[in-house]
Amino acid sequence: MRYIDFVNTKYRPKDTDLICEFHVEPHDQPLDVIAGGVAAESSIGTWTSLTTEKPYIHDKAATVYEIKGNEIKIAYPEALFEPGNMPNILSSIAGNVFGLEDIKYLRLNNIHFPEEIAKSFKGPKYGIEGVRKLTGVTERPLVGTIIKPKLGLVTKDHAEVAYNAWKGGCDVVKDDENLSSQRFNPFDERVIETLEARDRAESETGEKKVYLINVTAPMEEMKRRADFVEDHGGRYMMIDILTTGWSSLQAMRDLDLKLLIHAHRAGHAAFTRSHRHGINMVVLAKVARLIGVDQLHVGTAVGKMAETREEVLMNKEACVEPLYGIKPVLPIASGGLHPGMVPKLVEIFGKDTVIQAGGGIHGHPDGTVVGATALRQAVDAAMKGIPLKEYSKDHPALEKALEKWPVL
Ligand code: 3PG
Ligand code: 3PG
Ligand code: MG
Repeated sequence: MRYIDFVNTKYRPKDTDLICEFHVEPHDQPLDVIAGGVAAESSIGTWTSLTTEKPYIHDKAATVYEIKGNEIKIAYPEALFEPGNMPNILSSIAGNVFGLEDIKYLRLNNIHFPEEIAKSFKGPKYGIEGVRKLTGVTERPLVGTIIKPKLGLVTKDHAEVAYNAWKGGCDVVKDDENLSSQRFNPFDERVIETLEARDRAESETGEKKVYLINVTAPMEEMKRRADFVEDHGGRYMMIDILTTGWSSLQAMRDLDLKLLIHAHRAGHAAFTRSHRHGINMVVLAKVARLIGVDQLHVGTAVGKMAETREEVLMNKEACVEPLYGIKPVLPIASGGLHPGMVPKLVEIFGKDTVIQAGGGIHGHPDGTVVGATALRQAVDAAMKGIPLKEYSKDHPALEKALEKWPVL
């Protein structure tokens, strides 16, 4: 088969097909030929005709069935894929094609899994409902922080910052993406001391508090760390899902531990940031959801990270849209946030999110406790529909935060 043989705009995709939407820009060849090349190279074809091609193979060819400008849609027969094996699926549809010489730019913008493939994955064990049940917070966004400085604090100070954040009003405290088990803050000690701080904060505030500890490590060690967290009364593990890789994430989900999975996407922008080449965050979100994370960073639209409001809304939708009964994932807003942004965040995310601020809490002029209180007050104000400026008149923690970081 030649590249062009993989194009058939009369083809109507079957329910069992896996559908991919690509943006494609050829160098100088016609777009349909290059579109066919994407379908060929991501299914059964190659750059030349073959003597080994058997007639029975043709029904496994992917088909370009729509071309609109540079946007194309490809249908892949499900027989091409091994169910329950995400690395395998991505090696086809998001594999060699990105490097073809004849293609200038290629971006995988969306993916639609057929039911049988989608259901061959575990999906979230808990999802949004599970997070709500665990934390007991049902009617507002959760309030979270990332311990800052992101690296360097010794264990005792790390636990103290966590305690202060919970005490001030945070529900969630998480490690930063690049904290694992450095010498200044070894993993096992951190689990013990930070969970002890969590218990103290819980009994003093009467609120449920959670610690999202970063277990990211080579696979065997990651498993050991997750077990250690579970054995010591932790309720969450945080995994840097792109640097550990999909196979590791699947293996961690397959352990079927009690722990919820908080997915950090550090490195995603290497795939997602260009609008012409790479992989859309929507695709990464769908893949993470099928494998079974409970919550996932999706951008903020207002903070320090680059995604637009439209992109963030699409990422969020990928987490929560109906998907064959697979549980919705809690979308997390994080990166450059502060109390002054909360009304905008609530407008974008609604109440099903965690509003996470690092600098926006620990940078409060009166420190972490008051910083956490300020963020929590901002959330309360937004939920009551009261403008922050007005609410801050009798909420001094918020008032001081807004002096440093004005309302957006
Ligand atoms: C993100 O991807 O959302 C950003 O990297 C911020 O994540 P963090 O706030 O937890 O580090
Ligand atoms: C990050 O790594 O970017 C963060 O964890 C978010 O931190 P920030 O709230 O201080 O931007
Ligand atoms: Mg971070």
